[in-house]
Amino acid sequence: MALPQPRVCVTGGGGFIASWLIKLLLSRGYTVHASLRDPCDPKNAHLMQLDKARENLHLFKADVLDCETLTPAIEGCRGIFHLATPVPEHKIVDPEREVLDPAVKGTLNVLKICSTLKVHKVVVMSSNAAVTSNPNWPQDRPKDESCWSDKEFCEEKEDWYSVAKLVAEQEALEYAEENGLNVVTLCPPYVFGPLLQSTVNTSSKLLIYIIKGGPDVMTNRLWDIVDVRDVADALLILYEKSESSGRYICSPNLICTRDLVDLLKKMFPKYHYIDEIVDADHGAAPLSCQKLRDLDWEPRKLEETLTDSVESYEKAGLLQDVAGDPCRLPSLIRMWL
Ligand SMILES: NC(=O)c1ccc[n+]([C@@H]2O[C@H](COP(=O)([O-])OP(=O)(O)OC[C@H]3O[C@@H](n4cnc5c(N)ncnc54)[C@H](OP(=O)(O)O)[C@@H]3O)[C@@H](O)[C@H]2O)c1
Repeated sequence: MALPQPRVCVTGGGGFIASWLIKLLLSRGYTVHASLRDPCDPKNAHLMQLDKARENLHLFKADVLDCETLTPAIEGCRGIFHLATPVPEHKIVDPEREVLDPAVKGTLNVLKICSTLKVHKVVVMSSNAAVTSNPNWPQDRPKDESCWSDKEFCEEKEDWYSVAKLVAEQEALEYAEENGLNVVTLCPPYVFGPLLQSTVNTSSKLLIYIIKGGPDVMTNRLWDIVDVRDVADALLILYEKSESSGRYICSPNLICTRDLVDLLKKMFPKYHYIDEIVDADHGAAPLSCQKLRDLDWEPRKLEETLTDSVESYEKAGLLQDVAGDPCRLPSLIRMWL
């Protein structure tokens, strides 16, 4: 008989990516602690509907800025997946309070508790935002895990989300080094895929905007895209493989706006789509996810991601036009156009 899998904790458990990770962990026999700011909020109700949730999923009310609430969620767990970070879609007015503190202090709080409770391994969710915003990287050299976003460059652009993810990841890896904690980080790009939760997260709003169209003009920039189910797989691979170490890029698809719209139109001709796409420099260096592929990570094809995303949005009624309420691009994404 197979040995039972250990107990693990997922912070920010009700979110888009965390929900898929919890579904995967439960299907593999793990007992899961999910930390949520409000377990009673109806937006988190989908978690208890997952297969095996009644037996093996435990919900904890915790804020990453409050160690007293976090400790019970982490206690007794061999592994932690730290995903809780705000991904605000609106313009950030108070960077410290809205993103920097929850991302940076929140991550250090999680790590300190993990050290105290002797957690075996921590997988920290970072982002391409911590990798790609680097104007000094040579255009012809693929960006790999040695590439870090430039903090001053992001600060000048008031790109506070990127600053938050960059500093949180750097401090997490430094903390790991100094305190002998086993920490690995994952840096996904734009994550699309079917929704398990009833609310719509920021990255899914980008794809919905491209399909529905609206007043925000988009450029023909390049998009790095990964499927939410492949991100969940990558997180679990990083946890389970003893040889994983440091940071990992997971950006398998690169496509410009016009090609993405053309591909979607072929698959789903009935939608309006964005009608104005302004020319833009294609010059971004591609990303290499060889380090993750070397751990046997096999992402699916972009077509499958798009098909399953659109079908999920249709099922949730998210692609219907609402009179007097045009679809808008999240402000965070407008800044990156
Ligand atoms: N989606 C992407 O394209 C993408 C790409 C790269 C990296 N990421 C990273 O992946 C992670 C999950 O993102 P997502 O796309 O799944 O977004 P999401 O659905 O908005 O999930 C974010 C989660 O963080 C939680 N959270 C925010 N502030 C918190 C706090 N102070 N204490 C506890 N929990 C808090 C939120 O809980 P509430 O429901 O209580 O607000 C929510 O569950 C984040 O770390 C994000 O930076 C996402």
